[in-house]
Amino acid sequence: MKTVKLIVVGFGNIGKGFLDVLQIKQKEIQKNYDLSLKVSAVCEYNGCLVNEKGIDLSSALDYSRKGKMEKHSDWKRMKTLDAIKEVDADIVLELTPGDIKTGEPGFTHIKKALESGKHVVTSNKAPLALHFQEINSLAGKKGLKFGYEATVGGAIPIINLYRDQLEINKVNSIYGVLNGTSNYILTKMYCENLDYGTALKEATELGIAEKDPSYDLKGIDTAVKLVILANSIMKKKITYKDIKVEGIEEITPEALELAKKNNYTIKLIGDVNSQTVSPRLIPVNHPLNVSNTLNAIMLDMDVAGKLTLVGHGAGRTETASAIFSDVMDIVRSE
Ligand SMILES: NC(=O)c1ccc[n+]([C@@H]2O[C@H](COP(=O)([O-])OP(=O)(O)OC[C@H]3O[C@@H](n4cnc5c(N)ncnc54)[C@H](OP(=O)(O)O)[C@@H]3O)[C@@H](O)[C@H]2O)c1
Repeated sequence: MKTVKLIVVGFGNIGKGFLDVLQIKQKEIQKNYDLSLKVSAVCEYNGCLVNEKGIDLSSALDYSRKGKMEKHSDWKRMKTLDAIKEVDADIVLELTPGDIKTGEPGFTHIKKALESGKHVVTSNKAPLALHFQEINSLAGKKGLKFGYEATVGGAIPIINLYRDQLEINKVNSIYGVLNGTSNYILTKMYCENLDYGTALKEATELGIAEKDPSYDLKGIDTAVKLVILANSIMKKKITYKDIKVEGIEEITPEALELAKKNNYTIKLIGDVNSQTVSPRLIPVNHPLNVSNTLNAIMLDMDVAGKLTLVGHGAGRTETASAIFSDVMDIVRSE
């Protein structure tokens, strides 16, 4: 049986979600692919679990849930960058939060992993929104793979689908609803005639909006995803700074009411061609009129025509699905 070792950097929602799914699917992966996926390190901000024979996933999750990672027998007060460099592994999963002004700490983690001869899979958008070309060229020079399916659209397999099944197509445009939180708020305002503040309060209480939801509501999260789609699928060379961004904070119940009377709704749309993120009128029967936290991405291509993908754009297990698709792609390529 082939063994592939992973280092998990960032043990929050997504890191834990990935380990949860790995635990559930491990036997199936062994049986169906003759493959054993082992986790040789899990790094948090202040230290790492390290066991090159494979960390026990259940106890790692248990200790983390109890907030007692440093009591685990595999705990080491080791810096993340040292673990990335020194611990024996094939793939580094970079799952930390990213600062859109600097791309850090993910950018440095990704570079260190590639320089240390390890493939990288990430869910972290910020390093890609600022340094896409640099990361790709470093991966290319090192003959390593760099997977980032989880950065756009959660479980929607847009990047790998295009690369594997649609490459013959010239893509004329990509646009869509790329942020679940803002879509939830607009859906509530449209369907229940709520004002912006009440819809946001409900989203926060349900855990759909983060404590500081400004990235989502000001359109920044959508803009970052747009950059990744533009660079990876349409081969553009843009960064976050090239996108004109307007969020949903100024939308009123009256504007939505007027749209409704004319068989339209309002959605926050990211559009690669115009390099804009803005609220737009969308006909109610349009494929991009998706509800609640759903995302929808429309590609317009020269051979296949129009294609719309709809699915969950976030969530710990949904995002784990995208991370696994990149991990399995690397395993198959070796
Ligand atoms: N949540 C989603 O549904 C979703 C979907 C797609 C993509 N993403 C992206 O995936 C990434 C992770 O999201 P998340 O929801 O899991 O965030 P999260 O819950 O905030 O977890 C991030 C974890 O990374 C740790 N961390 C921060 N700096 C670190 C460092 N230098 N070394 C090691 N660990 C470090 C944090 O530790 P501390 O808590 O100690 O700071 C935290 O445990 C983000 O970039 C996010 O944008 C999230």
